[in-house]
Amino acid sequence: MSQRNWAASGPFITTATAVLACLAAGVLGLAPDVAHAEARPGRWSSAEKTTLGSMLLSKLPAPAPDPSNAVEARVEAIALGKRLFSDTRLSKNGQVACATCHAFERDFQDGRPVGQGVGTGIRRTMPIAAAAHSPWLFWDGRKDSLWSQALGPLEDGAEHGANRAQLAHLLEANYRTEYEALFGRFPPLQGVPANASPIGSADERKAWDAMPSSQRDAVNRAFSNLGKAIAAFERTVTYGESRFDRYVTAVLNADAAGQQALSAQEVSGLRLFIGKGQCSTCHNGPLLTDQHFHNTGVPPRDASRPDRGRSVAVAKAQHDEFNCLGKYSDAQADACQELSFMATDDPGMEGAFKTPSLRNVAGRAPYMHAGQLASLDDVVAHYVRSPKAATGHSELAQAGSGHAERKPIRLTVEEARDVVAFLKTLSGSLK
Ligand code: HEC
Ligand code: HEC
Repeated sequence: MSQRNWAASGPFITTATAVLACLAAGVLGLAPDVAHAEARPGRWSSAEKTTLGSMLLSKLPAPAPDPSNAVEARVEAIALGKRLFSDTRLSKNGQVACATCHAFERDFQDGRPVGQGVGTGIRRTMPIAAAAHSPWLFWDGRKDSLWSQALGPLEDGAEHGANRAQLAHLLEANYRTEYEALFGRFPPLQGVPANASPIGSADERKAWDAMPSSQRDAVNRAFSNLGKAIAAFERTVTYGESRFDRYVTAVLNADAAGQQALSAQEVSGLRLFIGKGQCSTCHNGPLLTDQHFHNTGVPPRDASRPDRGRSVAVAKAQHDEFNCLGKYSDAQADACQELSFMATDDPGMEGAFKTPSLRNVAGRAPYMHAGQLASLDDVVAHYVRSPKAATGHSELAQAGSGHAERKPIRLTVEEARDVVAFLKTLSGSLK
């Protein structure tokens, strides 16, 4: 299930290349800048070509099957999920659907710094495209499957603000036929109150506690199947080819005309991205993400309460009743590898967030987990500045810190501009 093996080819070669280049610069007594400037713009070494090839969208396999969702590939589930995704009835005020924040016409996001549903959230809306390739969902990875993820916003007070008893009744009243075609007989809801949830308002929790376990189970069953249909739809949303892919294909085929797909500035940005800028140590593979979590010292929205990210999400994933090992999962326990072998005590996860895909990134401002940075120029400036983290330790080396694994990312103003130009070549139409 893991996509982390992308890391095997790309970053290793990149780091090795960067280290060699810097060693060479040291031996020759040149400043690293001079050594890099001498590299010819349109020529790539065979190691670099391997790295470039590993980033092609055409190298992206189909998402690994999710053993916890038995209907994820069924066309009826995809059709039902698509309708549910846009259904505003699945909310407290009848006005919020998944598509309110994940808007079809905006690449499934909303362009806001933080999500806005029945209330205001604390993190930025993430794109849905290719999310099926992520072993962990959300910025902090607190969910281990797409279907379990979908249940979160439905009961989140700032998002849909609904509750699972309400949703089960709604599903039965409006989608019973479609539901039964996929999952069999609708779970019996006789006696289930209109509103109840173990994580809702005080009244909803009280109503939930008063329900017999058979009723709770019926509601949880319908609720989890709602998530499974939505996940089936989300799985079909993926990125389309970009100018970057056309350029790399041309490079690998020694097609000089095809290499016009990128300008000299964009090619220079790409070279920095996989070399001196060290971007591809984390942003690698066809989606330009290692699907892992890193603390990169992004300033928190609320400095008095910095978001701790992955470090507090691990326990949430473990104790989630809708995880791969739970009662509502369709998986055999031994199929839940990611959850079973999740690192639970990694201090590096304090203040760490999921590396986002950079596909279509130019259309997704503002950036980072809470929209802290307004533009791509600001993002690259952040990497060059490499500030200290508000909580935990930034993996980006700070000047003079003697960081063991990484050299500080140092880019001139012009180089930063080139990297930004390159980031704008990664856009294509969603499929
Ligand atoms: C109020 C706006 C809002 C609504 C409504 C909403 N989301 Fe989201 N979505 C977000 C935000 C914000 C995040 C990131 C939250 C976090 O990391 O804590 C997110 C994250 C996600 C992710 C994770 C993607 C990844 O790569 O990890 C998926 C998938 C997703 N939402 C699907 C849905 C579905 C399905 C629904 C409807 C059931 C939905 N969302 C409703 C704002 C929203
Ligand atoms: C140590 C791993 C790491 C390195 C190195 C790295 N990134 Fe990132 N990148 C991340 C993580 C993690 C985030 C999300 C951080 C957050 O939201 O707090 C991110 C976010 C971004 C974003 C914002 C995307 C979005 O949707 O919000 C862009 C753009 C980006 N990085 C580009 C780059 C570039 C360009 C470089 C090289 C100069 C680079 N990154 C180097 C891990 C890394």
